[in-house]
Amino acid sequence: MTSPKGHFISFEGIDGSGKSTQAKRLVAALQAEGYDVVHTREPGGSAGAEEIRALVLQGEPDRWSAETEILLFTAARRDHMERTILPALEAGKIVICDRFADSTRMYQGLSRGDLRALVDQLHDLMIGREPDLTLLFDMDPDVSHTRAVERDSIDSRFEDFGAGLQKAMRSGFLDLATSAPERFRIIDAARDIDTIAADTLGVIKAHIQ
Ligand code: ADP
Ligand code: TYD
Repeated sequence: MTSPKGHFISFEGIDGSGKSTQAKRLVAALQAEGYDVVHTREPGGSAGAEEIRALVLQGEPDRWSAETEILLFTAARRDHMERTILPALEAGKIVICDRFADSTRMYQGLSRGDLRALVDQLHDLMIGREPDLTLLFDMDPDVSHTRAVERDSIDSRFEDFGAGLQKAMRSGFLDLATSAPERFRIIDAARDIDTIAADTLGVIKAHIQ
């Protein structure tokens, strides 16, 4: 995959931490300032990847093994990269992506035993790229889990894994941030929406200028 010119920014965090709310606010704020922004998400973000999204996010928690999920999420990501992310970056745009490979590292890497090495191997083989910047929306899983469950979405397969997994993933995400400080910025997601939006916009503008 070629070396792009735009800015590739991912939002990560446990379910209900406010990523989608903040991504929407950020995209609107950047567009109002005249930036060319592509707002996308995973799993999904291209026609084929959206079809895979329905397969992986709906149904019973044991519908797929963790290994099969790694393949499905990576297949979706490859299509999303080829058709949406790389063309936008090559055109010099800012790509705001709601979740990317760090979610696979946490959800598939931790949810049913330690499969982190497998996730990383397949990522190196088929994706081979990280975002330029990753904002980690960090907060207490008890609060974010309640928010996520109250939202009552059909894409809730992973929320059904329960609060224990969300706790393990919170600390896993913080470990990832510690291991790649040049790429990660931690956002305190327990504050009110406007305060987080102002903080997020400041972090992004410092990065793109
Ligand atoms: P995520 O995309 O991380 O799962 P969402 O942005 O969908 O999270 O937010 C989950 C729920 O919490 C939504 O109902 C949203 O309106 C609400 N929410 C988001 N941010 C906040 C916040 N800072 N304070 C209180 N509620 C919030
Ligand atoms: P998303 O729609 O972002 O959910 P939420 O708004 O609750 O954060 O993502 C859907 C679910 O997919 C979420 O529970 C995390 C899971 N997921 C994985 O398990 N692996 C992945 O690689 C990705 C991108 C998401």
